[in-house]
Amino acid sequence: MPIREPHRVLTGITTSGTPHLGNYAGAIRPAIAASRQAGVESFYFLADYHALIHTANPAQVQRSTLEIAAAWLAAGLDPDKVWFYRQSDIPEVLELAWLLACVAGKGLLNRAHAYKAAVDRNTALGAEPDTGVNIGLFMYPVLMTADILLFSANSVPVGRDQIQHIEIARDMAERFNHRYGEHLVLPEAAIDTSVATLPGLDGRKMSKSYGNSIPLFASASALKKGIFSIVTDSRAPGEPKDIEGSAVLCLYEAFATAEESVRMRAAFAAGIAWGEAKQLLFERIETAVAPMRDRYLSLIADAPRIEGLLQDGAAKARAIATPFLGELRRAVGLRRLS
Ligand code: TRP
Repeated sequence: MPIREPHRVLTGITTSGTPHLGNYAGAIRPAIAASRQAGVESFYFLADYHALIHTANPAQVQRSTLEIAAAWLAAGLDPDKVWFYRQSDIPEVLELAWLLACVAGKGLLNRAHAYKAAVDRNTALGAEPDTGVNIGLFMYPVLMTADILLFSANSVPVGRDQIQHIEIARDMAERFNHRYGEHLVLPEAAIDTSVATLPGLDGRKMSKSYGNSIPLFASASALKKGIFSIVTDSRAPGEPKDIEGSAVLCLYEAFATAEESVRMRAAFAAGIAWGEAKQLLFERIETAVAPMRDRYLSLIADAPRIEGLLQDGAAKARAIATPFLGELRRAVGLRRLS
């Protein structure tokens, strides 16, 4: 087992959409804060191989990669301090995925959430269990495990919906180590309870797959329009508003200081009108986002610059991945004959 002093943190964002407020508050912002801590090595990447599982639109994969890379940089990620790369620039990921596929139990993958949800949907519709399911979806946890194990990550900040994938990664690492010796580090899921899981327009978790998200770098007017379309109850101005489960309050608190949050809670109890609460929410988010939006717009207009950063990031990542994969190839018996 490689003995390393620094603690390695790794996470990826799938490049299948436009970055939204939930990506920012739930992943990008805490990851950038973590990357500034001493003794931590951070690996943040654009999961474009994963994007192919759900997308058949090449231009969209490319565009999303540009947007998500620009979002990380606009939010303050320092590419010199971290390993910032595009998954598909690291072919070792796919090679490791094969080595892992050969130790992964099929039964374990049958129970993985994303695949199981597809099977359950088909069954409910009376269709064949695997209708419309590609092997990429089935292999999703194997690919994600390869992302993590290739860089010997100790901790993986993810949302609760991803905990099962980290357990699967640990399982595969254990099986591999049991068979071939201690090569792979067992990762831990890092669930930071202080990090917000943002609700979307309909109150469910903000997610591109639910179509309920508010883009991070929409224009100020589009941001306002999004915020004003958040679903609320029909309580009239003057009626106290429920704090529990309010999407408006939860979004506000994700961008507000502790004192601002206390004041907003008091305003809820005092019956603030929904229109007024939404206006305050808009102003709060706009204040946080506006300076980043300016940086984002100039980054997005300079694709060659982002491409250059990603190429540098890939070289830096492969300096770790290539020798490590060599070690794993030798361990499993893919060796020179003499
Ligand atoms: N599957 C993750 C998601 O959709 C993205 C991802 C891909 C990831 N590979 C990863 C996250 C490795 C953490 C570690 O959110």
